[in-house]
Amino acid sequence: MPLVTMKQVLDEAIRGNYAVGAFNVNNMEQIKGIMEAARQTKSPVILQASRGARKYAGRRFLRHLILAAIEEYPEIPIAMHLDHGNNLQSCIEAIEDGFTSVMIDGSLAEDGKTPAPYDYNLNVTRQVVLYAHERGVTVEGELGCLGGIEDGVGSGEVKLADPDQAVEFAEKTGVDALALGFGTSHGAYKFKKEPKLAYHIVEKVHQHRPDLPIVSHGSSSVPRDLVDRINAFGGHMPNAMGVPLSDLVRSIDSGVRKINIDTDTRLGVTGVIREVFAKQPDKFDPRDYLKPAMEEITRIVAERMRAFRTAGHAGDYAPVSLGDMKKAYTRK
Ligand code: G3H
Ligand code: 13P
Ligand code: ZN
Repeated sequence: MPLVTMKQVLDEAIRGNYAVGAFNVNNMEQIKGIMEAARQTKSPVILQASRGARKYAGRRFLRHLILAAIEEYPEIPIAMHLDHGNNLQSCIEAIEDGFTSVMIDGSLAEDGKTPAPYDYNLNVTRQVVLYAHERGVTVEGELGCLGGIEDGVGSGEVKLADPDQAVEFAEKTGVDALALGFGTSHGAYKFKKEPKLAYHIVEKVHQHRPDLPIVSHGSSSVPRDLVDRINAFGGHMPNAMGVPLSDLVRSIDSGVRKINIDTDTRLGVTGVIREVFAKQPDKFDPRDYLKPAMEEITRIVAERMRAFRTAGHAGDYAPVSLGDMKKAYTRK
């Protein structure tokens, strides 16, 4: 099937009372690893690329790798999403490259670090919605700031979203999905002690806008065994900690419909490669470590697809075209 929009994927998740994992991709191994998990569990999936990913792989390479996935996995609905767009231009470029969904993160200034004023967020998000909806493309916005400066995205300053402001923001901008700061954080060092997520923020927004998919960024679980393997084979990741899967499931019950995961697959790949290097120092064919790394991504992603109740939903719907999405936005 052709690429689908994230709006369609998330509207279906609302209907079916589940969440969809949005997994970050930079290369072929990540894309294949994730797509195998989608096939095994029969799950729709969001493949998301950051600006850094597009720079790393190259815009054309990344686009064609994802287009290859739609040919190889025709039974899986795939949305191609820009993660953390930092201005209108980054969203325009992604749309030109065929992305069916973009995030404009106006909670931060263009540098992707400095917390931005509410009015700036409102204005830039409105501009992106106007441009994207004219083309049938989905828009995700963000309110509140996540931590996690060590890993490149976020201010380091955690600012929880105000639920009333979130409802107003959604109304004024017309976003299709809204990421809320409710205590999660990017990267491998999210918390110093057990996290206490502010579910009430999600619940209040969900109560007022049950039709609005809420997004949870910074949602890697940073499983102990993955960190231990890295450390056992020469890595140094003291005190890494994430959001337990059970907390993510609880957030789905509160109204979360999109769950962003990047760090967990990074940890899986790094641990496997470190283990191969340590145990089989004679190996020098990249396939000897990239194949098990890919399989580890599949295992990690499939586990999350089952936990998020996405499994089994790939065949629920036929794709709606960007043209039809555009008409639907115009009618509003
Ligand atoms: O939230 C950010 C994602 O983990 C992407 O990270 O900008 O290093 O590609 P990146
Ligand atoms: P993690 O760092 O927790 O995997 O979060 C990824 C993310 O939010 C991408 O936007
Ligand atoms: Zn994020």
